[in-house]
Amino acid sequence: MKKLILTGLITLMSCSMGINAQSNPPKKGILLITFGTSFPEARKTFDHIDEMFKKQWPEVDVHWAYTAKFIRQKLKGQGIHTDSPAEALAKMGEAGYTHVAGQSLHFIPGSEFHDVLKTVEAFSGIPKGIEKTTIGSPLLSDHQDMQRMANFICETFPASDNKKEAVLLMGHGSHHDANVYYPAFQYYLDELSPDHFIGTVEGFPLLDDVMSRLDAGGYQAVKLVPFMSVAGDHAHNDMAGNEQDSWKSQLEAKGFEVEIVMKGLAEYDEVVEIWIDHLKEALDAL
Ligand code: CO
Repeated sequence: MKKLILTGLITLMSCSMGINAQSNPPKKGILLITFGTSFPEARKTFDHIDEMFKKQWPEVDVHWAYTAKFIRQKLKGQGIHTDSPAEALAKMGEAGYTHVAGQSLHFIPGSEFHDVLKTVEAFSGIPKGIEKTTIGSPLLSDHQDMQRMANFICETFPASDNKKEAVLLMGHGSHHDANVYYPAFQYYLDELSPDHFIGTVEGFPLLDDVMSRLDAGGYQAVKLVPFMSVAGDHAHNDMAGNEQDSWKSQLEAKGFEVEIVMKGLAEYDEVVEIWIDHLKEALDAL
């Protein structure tokens, strides 16, 4: 008897829940997820990304989240509030979004991306919250992304014809297995140009590894380009800083003439378009 009443209750509860769910009109949202930056000039790069996504989906709201806690806290000290991915998703659920597609603005599917993936998946089907979430993959995820990006790099940053110049990209690098995307990208560059190289700050290959290739190539000059979404801390300090251990200083000490490109790659439409294509897939899967 008791059991019967309980079953009845559960049926009643699920009925009323069903009615509630039906009265909730579907509402799609986009969540762009980046590591973040505290460099004011670099945040203008985020404005460019924001504009391009809004132009592509004028009918869908675009929200942002920063994964780096220390950056969020630094900005908080300056009176600027930014959400973590979990905060942004909780707020979106509360605001009535039923379907949210996240887009990782990372370069490789490393540890940052996998953390984001876990968070976004955790918010899928939350009671009284978002019904479904999906996520678009990072910039470099498959063969086609690698080809598109290598084409863009070689066309946008050609090696000078006037002097024997190498173009050296500075990637972030990772302790995650996905660091292999960086040396793999070198293969795609090699297919297009003998003068384009990639190194990383924290992974493989390091500057020392690339240096032997620069020496062997008989180059006189090196053009340094950040292989990152924004020209932030790593670009200003590790790449172009005046400290002895910056890439610029180390290359100059070796006798190379160094030119700096101080631009985040997300300032270029061609790069943001790759993320846009990945979000298209995530929105289709909602
Ligand atoms: Co870093």
